Amino acid sequence: MSEPGPGTRVVRAGLPEPEQGEPFLPGPVFAAPFHLSGDPHAAPAAYTRYGNPTWARYEEAVGSLESAEAVLFSSGMAAVAALLLTLLKPGSVVTMDSGCYHGVRVLAAAHLEPRGVEVRLAPPVELAEAAEGADLLWLESPSNPELEVYDIAALAARGVPTVVDNTTAGPLLQQPLDLGAQYGLTSATKTMSGHADLLLGYVTARDPERVQALRDWRRQAGALPGPFETWLAHRSLPTLALRVERGCDNALAIARLLAARDDVEGVRYPGLPGDPGHDIARRQMSGYGVVVSFDVGSAERAERFLTAARLVTDATSFGSVHTCAERRARWGGDAVPEGFIRLSAGSEETADLLADVERALDGA
Ligand SMILES: Cc1ncc(COP(=O)(O)O)c(C=O)c1O
Repeated sequence: MSEPGPGTRVVRAGLPEPEQGEPFLPGPVFAAPFHLSGDPHAAPAAYTRYGNPTWARYEEAVGSLESAEAVLFSSGMAAVAALLLTLLKPGSVVTMDSGCYHGVRVLAAAHLEPRGVEVRLAPPVELAEAAEGADLLWLESPSNPELEVYDIAALAARGVPTVVDNTTAGPLLQQPLDLGAQYGLTSATKTMSGHADLLLGYVTARDPERVQALRDWRRQAGALPGPFETWLAHRSLPTLALRVERGCDNALAIARLLAARDDVEGVRYPGLPGDPGHDIARRQMSGYGVVVSFDVGSAERAERFLTAARLVTDATSFGSVHTCAERRARWGGDAVPEGFIRLSAGSEETADLLADVERALDGA
């Protein structure tokens, strides 16, 4: 039999071998210490900061989707901090795309620069040049919220160890390690878990030493995922391909609707043939994701749109089964216009969503 496709693999990823009378996915293991006598290193589990069977199952599952090892953390930002603080030391240089998730830039300014790390923020066209001589290249593709698409293979080929924040794409749509990056980073808070009910994050890598360094950091710093959140995320994994497929279809349909209107500007969706990132996205992604961004002209109009929409929940974050959107400038921190909206398409029926978006825009 040929190797099953990713949509098949997610259904059973990380499940134990079938055992008579046992559940498909064993329940979460809640334990601080485990029973332990004698040598702690020989024990299957000793203390949850050192490891937990519920994490191990989920890590095996998400790692297998990238043919890599995965190290799970309590949130996407905990995974970001683990990478930045283990890879960089005083005197190091990190180059970041200036449109990467603002939490990453805030962390870099608050905790890297004061420790003597040079942080070079570069816009898309200058990123390759700014990576010259750096110790680490950090990029996010497609970026949140502006949906810039970077040529991962070309940038990673420059020889600087590269991290790709893969959160907006996820492993079913994009494989950063296959494209040459040393690390993939995913906030599993978003599409991976997909139900707007937990925070988690993980790093993928193929070099055992790098993986061990991240596990050591997790144990030392204590950025530990909760077993219940981990179990919920694993519980949601079998539907990932279905959710992503429906979300991508809905995102494309909404992007087309928006692009056809003359009262909406700057529609960005890598799946639109006219999008500046489309050609690269077509080469390196197998789908274009669930996030669409656009500008309705003013903060007031954006707020009216969000209030009028019934099937689009005004909330931050993305990747849930519920279609959500927000006026991104309300947070500050991103170089976006006041009327800029980031919309995350969920799993509702396409026709219902289109009708709702159209009606809310007409009324706004
Ligand atoms: C691209 C990206 N990376 C990382 C994060 C951080 O993830 P978390 O909120 O799980 O800490 C986010 C959160 O929005 C994000 O959008």
